Amino acid sequence: MIPMLSKNSVSMRDPKRVEQILTSMRNAGPSTLQVISDFDMTLTRFAHNGKRCPTSHNILDNSKLISEDCKAKLKNLLDTYYPIEIDSTRSVEEKLPLMVEWWTKAHELLVQQKISKDHLALAVRESEAMLRDGYQQFFDHLHQISVPLLIFSAGIGDVLEEVIRQAGVFHPNVKVFSNYMDFDESGVLQAFKGELIHIYNKREGALLNTEHFKELQSRYNVLLLGDSLGDLNMADGVMNLQNVLKIGYLNDKVDERRESYLKSYDIILEKDETMDVPNAILFYIT
Ligand code: TMP
Ligand code: MG
Repeated sequence: MIPMLSKNSVSMRDPKRVEQILTSMRNAGPSTLQVISDFDMTLTRFAHNGKRCPTSHNILDNSKLISEDCKAKLKNLLDTYYPIEIDSTRSVEEKLPLMVEWWTKAHELLVQQKISKDHLALAVRESEAMLRDGYQQFFDHLHQISVPLLIFSAGIGDVLEEVIRQAGVFHPNVKVFSNYMDFDESGVLQAFKGELIHIYNKREGALLNTEHFKELQSRYNVLLLGDSLGDLNMADGVMNLQNVLKIGYLNDKVDERRESYLKSYDIILEKDETMDVPNAILFYIT
């Protein structure tokens, strides 16, 4: 029904079910749709020309705003905890406290760096962050048809907003739940605001934002995009949920993780650096 779903990178546990959901969403129309997406490694590229692209945290980690000593410490954290994040042999219960530990330590280090709000835009401009190919069509189309896009990220809100602003696609239909920086009166980072969002508490994060979902009550169909198994819970706050189609980018440790991704996502995209499939689906259902 959608030729793009025959692309090499696509796998589906149950193509018939995907077809049913797509038909139901198409019949219900764009006024019933909302899109909920993770940011890092879902809307942004995982790699480009064989080199890893940065997450929103990494944009700061690699920037001039961080001392060499702190860079080494952050790199050390990444080398310790990222392999745990993607380890398919450990359970979420085992990983959760370790992920909280990673986020907590990384944020503590960032806060020590006296990062100035005014320098964030330049750090993003000088970074190698890249949205996936086809991002413009994705953001512009959703804006044109007035479908809300919620970006739900365990990254850094101030940084990711700047990425989408500089790409020229921070349209009014985009809303972000993320970790936001708290600056003192002279514009220096002093803490992070509110409850920490890490990769395994997106459900709790969603439930803290009931107002947002209340406003979108009539949008009972959800297209969900993620790259981690923690992203599967991003639609848990949606009211009157009727259909949810979950698309998962499988970027790393593909062979080890394929089975668990196929079980939990409706469509998986293996080593696919583009928005081709989400775009094709959006054009089909709207
Ligand atoms: P998310 O994509 O689910 O929102 O999660 C954010 C990603 O950020 C997750 O894949 C881990 C990564 N990360 C870093 O790259 N550096 C860090 O310091 C931390 C805490 C997370
Ligand atoms: Mg991600």
